[in-house]
Amino acid sequence: MARTTLTRTVLAAVSAAALFALGACSSDAGTQTGGGGETGAADDGVITLGFSQVGAESGWRAANTKSIQDTLTAENGFDLKFSDAQQKQENQIQAIRSYITQGVDVIAFSPVVETGWDAVLQEAKTAGIPVILTDRAVDSSDETLYESFIGSDFVLEGETAGQWAVEQYDGEGYKAVELQGTTGAAPAIDRKEGFESAIEGSDIEIIDSQTGNFTRAEGKTVMEGFLNAHDDIDLVFAHNDDMGLGAIEAIEAAGLTPGEDIKIITIDAVKDGMQALADGKINYIVECNPLLGPDLADIAKKVLAGEEVEKRIVVKDEAFDQEAAKEALPTREY
Ligand code: AHR
Repeated sequence: MARTTLTRTVLAAVSAAALFALGACSSDAGTQTGGGGETGAADDGVITLGFSQVGAESGWRAANTKSIQDTLTAENGFDLKFSDAQQKQENQIQAIRSYITQGVDVIAFSPVVETGWDAVLQEAKTAGIPVILTDRAVDSSDETLYESFIGSDFVLEGETAGQWAVEQYDGEGYKAVELQGTTGAAPAIDRKEGFESAIEGSDIEIIDSQTGNFTRAEGKTVMEGFLNAHDDIDLVFAHNDDMGLGAIEAIEAAGLTPGEDIKIITIDAVKDGMQALADGKINYIVECNPLLGPDLADIAKKVLAGEEVEKRIVVKDEAFDQEAAKEALPTREY
């Protein structure tokens, strides 16, 4: 089966970016702390960008961090300040407050969970520092608290996974277990919603669902628990490759064959996942593209130049079955 392109859509919406950036660069300059000068960009033209990363929980996250660090370089006009929140919201809030105090030109972050950001985002706004969301959304009714959100459509990813499961397995009475991402994180909430809506009306039934926190170790532990509790599991839906890879270890340790005795569908399509797919241990992977560095650089430059930016940019994702994974692996970037 051929590779499937999920979406190439870029949703354009008029942003408050231009107005916000202009405000930050002019009369309000005295209240804001732009790095190296009173305007958004430093006088030397270097953009100081504070980035708060979720953590280092997965292969996807490593590829995302590399993309950001490889792009936001001195050669490209950036002074990148990078912090790893170790999957803790309080660490991200602390990092963002520190960037505000340091007077960076732009703050970017991938929120570990969806809720609880309004206060710190308001502090950044008051300081005149624009914020760009990457990868994950915040659940806020005030869209003026950030300039742009670039990331995948997680609901669509879950739907695509569910649709493939229905195409392949409907009519066989499959019992499925779900390894959810971090509780409260946008990809965990949205992928669950998308998968559940896609299997509705089929005879695939989710018999158990727990968080594995997007890590291989927790994916393995939770899968061990599922195998102890249920002797009739046909399918695993894991919200990312790493948890799926952990599930493979648990399934093999239980004397079963992953991809055959128990089918596995995951999301991300990082190299380790794609290798397991090509090896027949995973059955289908929906991609989540982590290469967000170049777009982040572009958006940051535009925001500081007072140009209009799209409020929501949906990145392109694909989906792979086992044959497609074999074709894609030799040239896979991440
Ligand atoms: O937010 C993207 C998700 O976060 C990826 O699917 C997962 O691997 C990561 O931890």
